[in-house]
Amino acid sequence: MKPILLVHGGAGDIPASRVSGKLDGIKKSLRDGFKLLNNGQSSLDAVEEAVRSMELDDNFNAGYGSCLNSDGIVEMDASIMEGKYLKAGCLTLLQDIMHPISVARKVMEKTNHTFIGGESALKFAETHNFKPLTKGSLVTENAKLALDEFKERQAKGLDTIFSPTELDKKSVEELGETVGAVAIDVDGNIAAATSTGGITGKMPGRIGDSPILGCGTYADNEIGGVSTTGHGETIMRFNLAQRILQLISLKQVPVQQATEDATREMTQRLIGTGGAITLDKQGEVGIYFSSERMAWGYVKDNKLIYGINKGEIYREDL
Ligand code: GLY
Repeated sequence: MKPILLVHGGAGDIPASRVSGKLDGIKKSLRDGFKLLNNGQSSLDAVEEAVRSMELDDNFNAGYGSCLNSDGIVEMDASIMEGKYLKAGCLTLLQDIMHPISVARKVMEKTNHTFIGGESALKFAETHNFKPLTKGSLVTENAKLALDEFKERQAKGLDTIFSPTELDKKSVEELGETVGAVAIDVDGNIAAATSTGGITGKMPGRIGDSPILGCGTYADNEIGGVSTTGHGETIMRFNLAQRILQLISLKQVPVQQATEDATREMTQRLIGTGGAITLDKQGEVGIYFSSERMAWGYVKDNKLIYGINKGEIYREDL
């Protein structure tokens, strides 16, 4: 099997000023993650590395640069899954750790559980040698600005992120921008990973779609792997990742069409926007977003293929 790595850097109403930073970050993440696949390492290693790369980059809403909750605090969600034994690690409401995705992998590999959260997740991370950062270290100026803007909109009565309607679609599109990766390795093993700071101005304790299997992340060697991004309340109610895989497995819909159909139906029925990246078990790629933009990219046959605007595709050598 030819190895493939596919990543996204979040769907949303991404301002033009943030486009080039995101594209640079996508390329770096692909190069960092694909190096491992090229060395014969597993798809699990590759998706973890690709996501770690974006967690370090403040162009993305994950790790350093995460969105802030209404108290100005970073609370992060992440999940990782492998498609051979359907093992997974999920975590939520994690604070002050640079790489939630690696903590999620430890949950998968070092516990008998699948999902942990809150202060216990932080304690678990510490026992596995993740050093907590000084409080507030993950907060960036951009994230503070976004929270200020959110609070201004809220003061004008435009805080509708938790139950979007057609009228406030615009506010919903400004959210999200989670990061994620899906890969298949030489052995045909599929893995998927997703990491996020959630959405700006969320209630403390709010959990999004990203750590929930079948919503933000799923991997099954028998079908494919998915990572999603966008409005979490919408994605979790629609089970976006699972719906895409069902179209592939139950209705034999090709992967690109399945990714498109499920995401489009989600937005038609629930208003909130989002995007998804999908790899099927043959290594075919599906990429679609109902938001204005989504940063995405993949490596196939030693070429980087990437984009962020609808209908736009760039190619360059790895
Ligand atoms: N999709 C990220 C979130 O809503 O939390």
